Amino acid sequence: MPETPAPRAAGATGAATDQHPAAGPAPSDRATEAQVAAAVAALRRGELVAFPTETVYGLGADAADPAAVARVFAAKGRPADHPLIVHLASAAQLDDWAVDVPEVARRLADRFWPGPLTLILRRHPRVPTAVTGGQDTIGVRVPRHPVAHALLEAFGGGVAAPSANRFGRVSPTTRERVVAELGDVVGTILEGGDCEVGLESTIVDLSGDRPRLLRPGGIGTDELAEVLDAVPTREGTGAPRTPGRLPSHYAPTTPVRVVDADALDAAVAGEREAGRRVAVLRVAGDGDGDIGLHGAETLTLPAEPAAYGRALYGRLAEIDRLGCDVAVVERPPARHGWEAVHDRLGRAQGVDPHALRAVLLVGPCADEGPPDTAGAVEELRAWRATAEAVPVLLLGAWASSAYPPEVLPAVRGDRAIHTGLRLTGGPGWALVALEASDANLGIPVGRVELALALHDTGRGRFHLSADDALAADTRALQRRGVVGTPLAP
Ligand code: TXA
Ligand code: MG
Repeated sequence: MPETPAPRAAGATGAATDQHPAAGPAPSDRATEAQVAAAVAALRRGELVAFPTETVYGLGADAADPAAVARVFAAKGRPADHPLIVHLASAAQLDDWAVDVPEVARRLADRFWPGPLTLILRRHPRVPTAVTGGQDTIGVRVPRHPVAHALLEAFGGGVAAPSANRFGRVSPTTRERVVAELGDVVGTILEGGDCEVGLESTIVDLSGDRPRLLRPGGIGTDELAEVLDAVPTREGTGAPRTPGRLPSHYAPTTPVRVVDADALDAAVAGEREAGRRVAVLRVAGDGDGDIGLHGAETLTLPAEPAAYGRALYGRLAEIDRLGCDVAVVERPPARHGWEAVHDRLGRAQGVDPHALRAVLLVGPCADEGPPDTAGAVEELRAWRATAEAVPVLLLGAWASSAYPPEVLPAVRGDRAIHTGLRLTGGPGWALVALEASDANLGIPVGRVELALALHDTGRGRFHLSADDALAADTRALQRRGVVGTPLAP
């Protein structure tokens, strides 16, 4: 398909539309009605239109026009099997794009649309497979940004739109950065100011037998749980073609290293000693805002997750402009609410988010007597044979001495955990494989989620340990009938 820009008036690149060349760049932070109308006309001609949403800017095309959709892939340099999200003006259009829409999808749509949530549903047969990367499922979303809404409502159909960046790069959250990324191949770039969320939408897959979280984002897992009655699992999200599957997705040009706050100083010193120019990205705290670490360029981000997320991609773009050899990023708090930030930082590092990082052994309740340990030990030996460097963490009553040392090098599970990718188990025990992206998350909700996932798969009751950090989770689990009385410390 054409790599060349869609036809447009001379000088339009970088201007809000091709209809008002005399006006130059839009003076306000919102495209005018006339500019939106011109963008609708461009979509109808099969051209590309970049537009703001509350998450990030999107690169849109008429989702019903395979040739227009092909232009999106060409402009981004995106592999053709990588599906696009279809943006709609309202949930009332859902049945034009998806079939077998489950009741839970309607409830999620009711609660979170318009807003930063994408639902994966079964594709309507008339949806071009070019949009869905050949898959039988489709991602749909109703954005709440007023310019996106105006565009979609006036257009009337679905607009297939990935983020408006070259494939694998950081998504743009200002019009200016769309121009820098794609100004040479997109004729119409609507103005919408700074994106309010700043990170891509939360993606929940409802096409299978239970909800799966494919990408954390603007809607938190706790909010989803209120509608779903359980936190969506991440089990099985290592399948191909899920978001950020490829290493080095959502990545700036500058290599990124994420390090714990207490290791920041040493990490920067090490990079400097090796002769590298270093940019440091810190979480703002008392009085440390602009301290230069060993003469490194230091930038900060707010210590609150929504504000951090809103500004993150802008900071990463700034870091690229500084032209440093490496960016050392202080790991933000490992707390609930930071999932999307941890996810994107993990990907910015180029770590495959689905790489195996740890194996968690979940034991039985003390009052259930000794587990059938033979099966567990055998499984653990097999895991360790395939993934030598992977630590095994224990969670539960039998985090004790009963296991051979080569099997259990780490003996307490009070660590960062999140729902794992693979589950296996026997009577009274379960093994959970944790992915790299999960290992970044020291959040309590991870434990709740894990427990629920195990519960759902019929692995039975089990206890979490009773220390302070877990007490609240344990109470939450008790309310849901998953665990009994916490163990004595
Ligand atoms: O916030 C957002 O979602 C932004 C704005 C523009 O809406 N869009 C966005 O699109 O982030 P994109 O293409 O950069 O990321 C969408 C992700 C892709 O990684 C794709 O794999 C996944 O959604 N996706 C889309 N359809 C899918 C499907 N049918 N099954 C699984 N994953 C799907
Ligand atoms: Mg993207």
